[in-house]
Amino acid sequence: MSLLAIQDLEITYRTQRGICRAVDGATFEVPAGAVVGLVGESGCGKTTVARAITGVLARNAEIAAGRMIFAGRDLVGLDRRAYNDLRWRDIAFIPQSAMNSLDPVYRVGTQIAEVLTIRGGFDRARAGRRAVELFEMVGLNPQRLSDYPHQFSGGMRQRAAIALALALNPKLVIADEPVTALDVIVQRQVLDTIRDLQRRLGISVILVTHDISVVAYVCDYVVVMYAGQVVEAGATDAVLSRPRHPYTMGLYNAFPDLQRSGDLLVPIEGSPPDLFEPPEGCRFAPRCPFVLDRCQTASPPLDRTDTRHLSACWRTAEASELRNRAREASTWLHS
Ligand SMILES: Nc1ncnc2c1ncn2[C@@H]1O[C@H](COP(=O)(O)OP(=O)(O)O)[C@@H](O)[C@H]1O
Ligand code: SF4
Ligand SMILES: [Mg+2]
Repeated sequence: MSLLAIQDLEITYRTQRGICRAVDGATFEVPAGAVVGLVGESGCGKTTVARAITGVLARNAEIAAGRMIFAGRDLVGLDRRAYNDLRWRDIAFIPQSAMNSLDPVYRVGTQIAEVLTIRGGFDRARAGRRAVELFEMVGLNPQRLSDYPHQFSGGMRQRAAIALALALNPKLVIADEPVTALDVIVQRQVLDTIRDLQRRLGISVILVTHDISVVAYVCDYVVVMYAGQVVEAGATDAVLSRPRHPYTMGLYNAFPDLQRSGDLLVPIEGSPPDLFEPPEGCRFAPRCPFVLDRCQTASPPLDRTDTRHLSACWRTAEASELRNRAREASTWLHS
């Protein structure tokens, strides 16, 4: 059963330049007890989706359409008070840089205690015990609770941010680029901790990342976003071993494997389209080596025939042949 179902979500930003259509019809599900990776290049709308779910969108943002059904309740239109009750207890958000969730002027332990007492109604003694327990859970020495964030390494800060998020036993944790700033070894350690805690606590995690190798390492399911839309989604094994969308095929070539090194990396040339005036047809068409005339004029819908593996490409039926071609670097370098 899914804990969260995002349905046809549309989110816009009002700006001086006009309306930025940051999320344009996103649909995906987060099953209970699973790690779901939300992946795509910078600017494709991942953080906007994460913030929408948590109820912390920027002031100039608007949810223009869609539903976000969490544990049977639609979060779209939920008022501030209801969101305040939900945040931390049901859904916890770890923002893009751990430094954003930790205040530099307070000791880390004080910040955890504050969430426990103010949001969770703990008394001080119980909050102190819980903070120790949380630090132990994420692999930090509880003696470091009296440290300030700057006394921690990047990996330790990320662990402290995870401890903070877990304070009130949420059902869903959304982590935005939790390992982006860390070196590969520390990345693996932090991801192992997230995976271990997710299993032990039976929670769901949405892991937002631009790096598909992070998804391969830790996620059960993957949702690939491009230019504000979901272009492919399904079980990680299926999507990464048999991608159906050329963008996913390209992303896979563009990142080093977290467990292997020395792979030839082939970037996807060009950049994502302008979200103020997105192209009429397939948004990936200007960069796609397999583009047909039809792709330029009509936008491929998300094909939901196979509910376990969704994809939005006119050439899905030929995916196997396209995959073979996508493995050749020349396919991407001379598109
Ligand atoms: N507060 C904002 N005001 C205007 N545009 C924004 C704002 N936040 C994000 N955007 C735009 O929305 C799009 C999606 O951004 P974002 O959700 O941060 O993507 P990602 O997390 O995938 O990098 C981008 O084009 C970005 O410039
Ligand atoms: S619809 Fe066409 S342009 Fe878009 S990804 Fe598929 S083949 Fe490429
Ligand atoms: Mg982001």
